[in-house]
Amino acid sequence: MAYRWKNKLSRTDITPKSAYLNRRQILAGTVGLGAIGLAGGAQAQDGLEPNTLEEIRSYNNFYEFGTGKEDPALNAHKLDTSNWIVKVDGLVDNPGDYVMDDLFAGLSVEDRLYRFRCVEAWSMVVPWNGIELADILNKVGVQSSAKYVAFETVVQPENMIGVQRRVLDFPYVEGLRLDEAMHPLTIMATGIYDEPLAKQNGAPMRLVVPWKYGFKSIKSIVRITLTDEEPPISWNKANRREYGFYSNVNPTVDHPRWSQASERVIGGGLFASRQDTLMFNGYPEVASLYEGMDLSVDF
Ligand code: MTE
Repeated sequence: MAYRWKNKLSRTDITPKSAYLNRRQILAGTVGLGAIGLAGGAQAQDGLEPNTLEEIRSYNNFYEFGTGKEDPALNAHKLDTSNWIVKVDGLVDNPGDYVMDDLFAGLSVEDRLYRFRCVEAWSMVVPWNGIELADILNKVGVQSSAKYVAFETVVQPENMIGVQRRVLDFPYVEGLRLDEAMHPLTIMATGIYDEPLAKQNGAPMRLVVPWKYGFKSIKSIVRITLTDEEPPISWNKANRREYGFYSNVNPTVDHPRWSQASERVIGGGLFASRQDTLMFNGYPEVASLYEGMDLSVDF
């Protein structure tokens, strides 16, 4: 599937001029972004070349809309994002059903150029716009007994062919330990290249945790729950031997069915290029979160 997609199009074919120009601007802007204070993250941004908007919108995983890489772009237009309500519940001071504007009011949207590494061993570089998840959690008031954050994707069976076909146990659910959720690299993305998220990318709001495999970055979120128990996550429920709760990018721990030592770079020209996968996807500042843990056991 992936190679068919690659052979069909070359990079110049699929790069609209506007996206290309925008890409140059973002590249130029990365120098300025270096000042935002995330030492390692900012360094990691230097020299990163973002994928085009076209690439980011045409090669996706969003199983609610089918299992093929092209299916989300074909089918996600059916997602109804009007009147989006996010339920915030569990161990919080201010639980409630929030409209997005209220949840994000007063919080700043930041530009983050991040590597994105799928557990299937392909990668992209994405210029996200988003809000630090910590800002959102601080706003709703996390209670001291909370240890984890659970997330849930919307289910619209009539609009979602993958839900009709039960390709996974929906709703898609994910979770983070609270310290992971509060880490400044973790964002709730609302846009890419300063445009609102495309539906296939998880409109109107999706998680981005750049040091973890892409499946942790849950899309089209309608519920955020603070809890004191490790929450279930979709891919672990589907196959607990292959997908762990943490799922930190780790080139030394292979997937049972393939190596994680390297990755195929999406958009690397007619012939997809490979590069070595970096520990924590190249974000070493998160290593202290896992001190004392055996990451081959807690994978
Ligand atoms: N979120 C939901 N709700 N459903 C999904 O199938 N797929 C995950 C993640 N979030 C998925 C999801 C996987 S496996 C990946 S790699 C990323 O979304 C892909 O994000 P992208 O399509 O924006 O690149």
